[in-house]
Amino acid sequence: MKNIKAIIFDAYGTLFDVNSAAEKCKDKIGDKWEPFANFWRTTQLEYTWLRSLMGRHKDFWQITEDSLDKSMKVFQIDSSMRDDLLNLYKVLSPFKEVHKTLKTLKEKKFKLAILSNGTPSLLNELVKSNNLENLFDDVFSIEEVGIYKPNSKVYDMPIKKYKIEKNEVAFLSANTWDVSGGGNYGYQSIWVNRNNNIFDILDFKPNFEIKDLSGLLSKF
Ligand code: LAC
Repeated sequence: MKNIKAIIFDAYGTLFDVNSAAEKCKDKIGDKWEPFANFWRTTQLEYTWLRSLMGRHKDFWQITEDSLDKSMKVFQIDSSMRDDLLNLYKVLSPFKEVHKTLKTLKEKKFKLAILSNGTPSLLNELVKSNNLENLFDDVFSIEEVGIYKPNSKVYDMPIKKYKIEKNEVAFLSANTWDVSGGGNYGYQSIWVNRNNNIFDILDFKPNFEIKDLSGLLSKF
């Protein structure tokens, strides 16, 4: 990739495994842990979009709790699991290639940042608990603009801070709709297609598709 000054990462699903909270409880939840985790994630995202459209913002932690409460009812998960699931969500595991990839990119002197729906405290905790704090120049949270992705105010944040052009950003996300959001905004967007999914039809095709973040290293 040419002319890239900053490499910006989505957090949930891209750097950190959102299903790892439910997976760690699979002995108690049983076989349904995975459909339950997927439903929780989908509901959480729907609530971000719906709240943005309704103009009724709640932060990502509150939305994570609300979507968990609905998902636990739908999947008839025992209410005693609620605190465990929420506590585990605060310390999600990173995907295995994350640390090494970021370290190599950092050595190449790119600006590295997170751009996420998460609250500043959630994101800082995730970065800290996973020993990633020396690798990022910035952690941009949508709380600064009060509206969720894919609103363009979110994608504007790094452009304003770094005073660079939109196409000087390489934006990485495992969420197809976020790749489309960043791409329609003007970023060079890369899809981290971890699970062999089908891309969206939303007026943008990813500049690149990689299987995990280590695929990034051959691009720079
Ligand atoms: C985030 C969600 C979209 O981190 O994964 O912003």
